[in-house]
Amino acid sequence: GAKERREKLLTINKQAARAFHRWLYAPEGAQGLAYLQKRGLSKGTLTRFGLGFAPNRWDALIQELSKEGYDKRDLLDAGLAVSNKDGRIYDRFRNRVMFPIIDTGGNVIGFGGRVMDDSTPKYLNSPDTPVYNKSRNVFALNIAKKSKAGQVILTEGYMDTISLHQAGFDSAVASLGTSLTPDHAQLLSRYFPQAILAYDGDGPGVAAAQRAIPLLEKAGLKVRVLRMRGAKDPDEFIKSYGREAFQRLLDQSENQVDYRLDQIKKKYNLEDDAQKVAFLQEAAQMLSTLPSAVEREIYGGHAAQTAGVSPETMALEVKKAFQQRL
Ligand code: GTP
Ligand code: MN
Ligand code: MN
Ligand code: MN
Ligand code: MN
Repeated sequence: GAKERREKLLTINKQAARAFHRWLYAPEGAQGLAYLQKRGLSKGTLTRFGLGFAPNRWDALIQELSKEGYDKRDLLDAGLAVSNKDGRIYDRFRNRVMFPIIDTGGNVIGFGGRVMDDSTPKYLNSPDTPVYNKSRNVFALNIAKKSKAGQVILTEGYMDTISLHQAGFDSAVASLGTSLTPDHAQLLSRYFPQAILAYDGDGPGVAAAQRAIPLLEKAGLKVRVLRMRGAKDPDEFIKSYGREAFQRLLDQSENQVDYRLDQIKKKYNLEDDAQKVAFLQEAAQMLSTLPSAVEREIYGGHAAQTAGVSPETMALEVKKAFQQRL
């Protein structure tokens, strides 16, 4: 039945994770181990995240798991093997460092694999299978869910999340290149009341943060946004400036409403009166979507101060936009 099939896939994944981890310390995994060490990961971190290495062979895992009684079909079902046009079946992950993806129940549900040079694709992930759905799972929540920090730190990548944990920020997770989904937000809200977006500081990262904010708010999480500066992503930031500096970024993170006001402000030159008016109107439109009157007043005050008008005038503008919405 379906349940037995899922259990079988989970067992295969667990065996695969063990094999990948063993290979990291085997002679043929030396390059993988060196790569992860070069990226600053400690022995304890490699163990804690169960990182591994997929050998540079066509059938290393197929051979290894055949010893446990699994055939190529089973590995295809688990997303660990692929077949080409001629029907030849071989290992999906080859010559990559391996990141197991583990659900909150402790099951290995999938993998990500990274090349050790500049070749592409940089990361290869498990396809969706009966046990893995990338829209419903985030990386490292199995560890982060035990954190005593009241806020989940959302990052884009495996290495960001692992670096943060190694630096002591044990509530970091990653949505792994896919945009955050409503299911992700729902899942996170079961463990945390608040989320901090710590995406990359580039254009795609900012756009991803903008899209994630309403989903998280809808799931009931209070959202703050960390502004990445001086580095591309949290991993590189910590490497360059250290954990105390990252803690300061967390402390300086902005409430999502102030963050969105800042994003709107960037589009206008507030020295110009006509643009100042346009800024206040767009800000009023955004603020009018806030369900709480108290929030509309407080953040309306922030916008007013930014543009140098009175809070009363701004409040009128927000009220007008709010009423037009009803
Ligand atoms: P590093 O170079 O190892 O530090 O990775 P990164 O996490 O900084 O990579 P990047 O910011 O480019 O991408 C963020 C996340 O998107 C990665 O951690 C992956 O989960 C995912 N991703 C990046 N490149 C690829 C790719 O080529 N294919 C797929 N499927 N996912 C990718
Ligand atoms: Mn990026
Ligand atoms: Mn990155
Ligand atoms: Mn990176
Ligand atoms: Mn600000």
